[in-house]
Amino acid sequence: MNGITQSTALWYTSRATGVVSLLLLTAVVLLGVLVNRQGRLPGLPRFVVTGLHRNLSLLGLAFVAIHVITAILDPYVTIRIVAIVIPFASAYKAFWLGLGAISLDVVLALILTSLARARMSRRLWRSLHWLSYVAWVSALVHSLGSSNDLHSGVLLYMAIACTLAVIAAVAWRITHAGREIPREERAAATLAMMSPARAAQTRGTPRDDARPRVPGSSASGNRAPENVR
Ligand code: HEM
Repeated sequence: MNGITQSTALWYTSRATGVVSLLLLTAVVLLGVLVNRQGRLPGLPRFVVTGLHRNLSLLGLAFVAIHVITAILDPYVTIRIVAIVIPFASAYKAFWLGLGAISLDVVLALILTSLARARMSRRLWRSLHWLSYVAWVSALVHSLGSSNDLHSGVLLYMAIACTLAVIAAVAWRITHAGREIPREERAAATLAMMSPARAAQTRGTPRDDARPRVPGSSASGNRAPENVR
């Protein structure tokens, strides 16, 4: 392969993997937003949703890795290796590539803190996870700013679709936030379902007064605990 062909191959690989990375990052954010506190999407068991969320984020990271490595290897432009993780360190398109580096840093931080989730408080983990919006917005602006390809045609429609999907998901989440059962109440509901009174009830002993009441349930019965984490 001669120099020009090799450079072209690297360039196209970098572009293509950049686009796939943006799509995967969008899918990960959408899953994160749409999965309510009960960790479910309609029709899908919780482990499928969380597994999809985790695996798509790892796949996205793999594509970003190929995206940046091929961009660095491409001799057509000179991008320093440090520019991958240090924002605005690239002489080439410093600002737009800087946004890409910010996005990658945040994605890495989110994946690492998720791997160490058992060792940190849930509140801290959740606070850090809010940064996923920063990662997505910087990736989107990086994509739009660093290349003209996303300014027209199919790739422009793709960028618009990604943006509308995330905005719609966030709006949906905000409007449904009030209907979520707080974590403490869900935990109490689980304990109540496991209590001796409940056990007696499931054995057929009618003890309506001992029946655990789950917030949000109707007067005549309990909400099934399928959504309890
Ligand atoms: C989550 C992180 C990132 C995502 C989702 C992402 C995505 C994208 C996308 C969609 C494009 C446009 C592709 C096209 O033209 O069709 C692009 C361009 C580019 N990205 Fe990234 N990127 C990320 C991080 C980075 C980082 C850290 C670097 C390296 C320092 C980088 C370097 C580049 C370069 C060199 C271009 C092409 C610029 C040009 O056309 O002149 N990206 N990226």
